[in-house]
Amino acid sequence: MTAHQSTSTSPLEVHLTDADLAEALRADVHAGLTAHPKQLPPKWFYDARGSELFEQITTLPEYYPTRTEREILRQGAPAIAAAATPDVLVELGSGSSEKTRLLLDAMADTLTTYVPQDVSVSALTGAVDALAASHPGLRVRGMVSDFTDTLHHLPAGGRRMIAFLGGTIGNMIPAERAEFLASIAAALRPGETLLLGAGLVVPPAVVVPAYDDAAGVTAEFDRNVLRVVNARLHADFEPDAFRHVALWDAANEWIEMRLEATRAMRVTVADLNLAVDFAEGEQLRTEISAKFRLDGIARELADAGLTLVHTWTDDDHRFAVLLAERGRR
Ligand code: SAH
Ligand code: AVI
Repeated sequence: MTAHQSTSTSPLEVHLTDADLAEALRADVHAGLTAHPKQLPPKWFYDARGSELFEQITTLPEYYPTRTEREILRQGAPAIAAAATPDVLVELGSGSSEKTRLLLDAMADTLTTYVPQDVSVSALTGAVDALAASHPGLRVRGMVSDFTDTLHHLPAGGRRMIAFLGGTIGNMIPAERAEFLASIAAALRPGETLLLGAGLVVPPAVVVPAYDDAAGVTAEFDRNVLRVVNARLHADFEPDAFRHVALWDAANEWIEMRLEATRAMRVTVADLNLAVDFAEGEQLRTEISAKFRLDGIARELADAGLTLVHTWTDDDHRFAVLLAERGRR
């Protein structure tokens, strides 16, 4: 299915219609708000405002992942391109595709097609339009879908690389990660590659401020999920009645974002015919962001059937970019 977005000059391939999205949101909100403890999946942060807030986060002094990964790619892109020589680059959860430009430029000799994929139509539209202007010789085919259910839509031809950058792999719980990496391995042909960006374990004094910045942008991003539920399911969350909490879970080595009710309240979700009570101080989990150790992530890749080719890190060991190849089985 192809949709021409009104603000875009470029067509997007849509595998997730508004109706699909509405159905998935209804299921997630019902399950999450009736669970103990309450939770919502991070995918719902990213309406147009959420994507814009995420882009603001990437420029904050406390939020080191984006600039660290960008620097790793700036230095490593030529070696990544030489090792993988892809014709087709598929990027899952591509957002603004801003850092990816370093890869596109380094891969210019071999790359014919770039497939940015995201659930956020606004982020994808902006990225595709900007790339059409800056890279007129490149075939850019934006894909709107859920990255956990999109690998069967990958282009079939060429030598493909799947990129999954930004540390978004950390937003999945371990069982989801294992399933996701295995599905990537299954979608690739022997010799094709995965380029994975992953945040590394750093001291809490570094990671906590990155998820609880002084300017309060991350807090707004966190509360945005409530605005999305209000707008799409006619709920009556009062976002300002929830306090943003960022908490380092040392046992799981992940940072958790939560929204804490500042008073007891009842929230109704009209489209679900659901009333949900929050006690004062009750927390709703909105995101985990796991941080990795190099041996652990190498093991996860191997378990999925992916062979690690090379790892690039920054001098402070805050972030890693890993190139892995689908092994021969
Ligand atoms: N890769 C970019 C953006 C990271 S933000 C970077 O490194 O800066 C995470 C991106 O993943 C957002 O653009 C969001 O819309 C997208 N996303 C989150 N969950 C998704 C899902 N289930 N399917 C597809 N895209 C998703
Ligand atoms: C998209 N993802 C990798 C970001 C992260 O760091 O986990 C989302 C984010 N959450 C808070 N700040 C940024």
